[in-house]
Amino acid sequence: MSDAAGDGGTPGPYTLADWADLARAGMDPGVWDFCAGGAGEERTLAANVEAYDRVRFRPRVLTGVGRPDTTTRILGRRWAAPIGVAPLAYHTLADPAGEVATAGAAGRAGLPLVVSTFAGRTFEDIARVAAAPLWLQVYCFRDRDATRALVERAERAGFEALVLTADAPRLGRRLRDLRNGFRLPDGIVPANLTGAGFSSPVDHALAEFDAALDWGVVAWLGEISSLPVLVKGVLTPADARQAVAAGAAGIVVSNHGGRQLDAVPATLDVLPEIADAVRGACPVLVDGGVRRGSDVLAALALGADAVLLGRPVLHGLAVGGETGVERVLGTVVDELVETMTFTGTPSVDRAGPPLVGGPEEAG
Ligand code: FNR
Repeated sequence: MSDAAGDGGTPGPYTLADWADLARAGMDPGVWDFCAGGAGEERTLAANVEAYDRVRFRPRVLTGVGRPDTTTRILGRRWAAPIGVAPLAYHTLADPAGEVATAGAAGRAGLPLVVSTFAGRTFEDIARVAAAPLWLQVYCFRDRDATRALVERAERAGFEALVLTADAPRLGRRLRDLRNGFRLPDGIVPANLTGAGFSSPVDHALAEFDAALDWGVVAWLGEISSLPVLVKGVLTPADARQAVAAGAAGIVVSNHGGRQLDAVPATLDVLPEIADAVRGACPVLVDGGVRRGSDVLAALALGADAVLLGRPVLHGLAVGGETGVERVLGTVVDELVETMTFTGTPSVDRAGPPLVGGPEEAG
């Protein structure tokens, strides 16, 4: 064992990086690459993580904080911490219980789960165990009837919001998958698309991405459901303003974890200008590269209301099923509490630019 652990120490997992190492060791290499990989040369994938690595806090001392309060309210609902689970296709690749296990863990942690259009378990099964908000991530297909059926099914199951993925006019060019000849293993299916008129759900659904979507789709989703619509995949202030103008109830600053267009900026780097453009008109969430609790606080300091966590959740699921996800989420929350305590941040709404070296607020 490492010196750091000392006699009788254990190798962890202590950090999300430890969970990633364990997951990699245990997973089928092709499945690992599908989950870990990005598009093109993976420059954006790396940039997301590097942007957080560059952050340095400017702690305030003797603030009398005591135990910081990590809770927040997003779209009227209380979250135990400003952390949700990002939409990830096919949790069943990591564990047969798939999204049902993830929802159980997220619910116990008091954190919301965004369920992918390509979930491996049915909305009804997921909703049965969920004890925190469920949102549906929507890929709007050319087949609007199939899209509508998906949305209606989620709304009937009790989902509370729609997250329109706007950065997928087509699927990114994922070189690891091409080189591996990756195909979904037998039995891994988009459980909520079967019966939606797709003959071969996987290939058909991917071929059905609508490359001609425009901002009118936000209004359309508002017409076919009563749920608030968030727009995921915003990377410019101009699009953030358009999203608000189109009626979005929130935006997710995202580059899809580096899986769509390579060489777009790290999400943390564009977050401040986007938060500025939105000016509190709606919640701003960010995802991509969050790997520690301190990353969560950095994102809040730079203008986010909450973050979404992607790949680390799959790592927990692959290594330890529902318990693994609970431990991954628990680790991030514990690290957030630690960072808030050390920096003298009493509550999540008190995190601002000075915390990461930005200008002091007037007064
Ligand atoms: C994703 N992501 C994603 N996004 C989406 O809108 N719908 C989806 O079905 C999926 N599926 C998916 C599968 C896998 C295996 C990964 C890794 C990612 C993107 C996801 O929601 C999120 O934007 C990123 O994963 C966040 O980055 P990190 O935390 O993984 O770095």
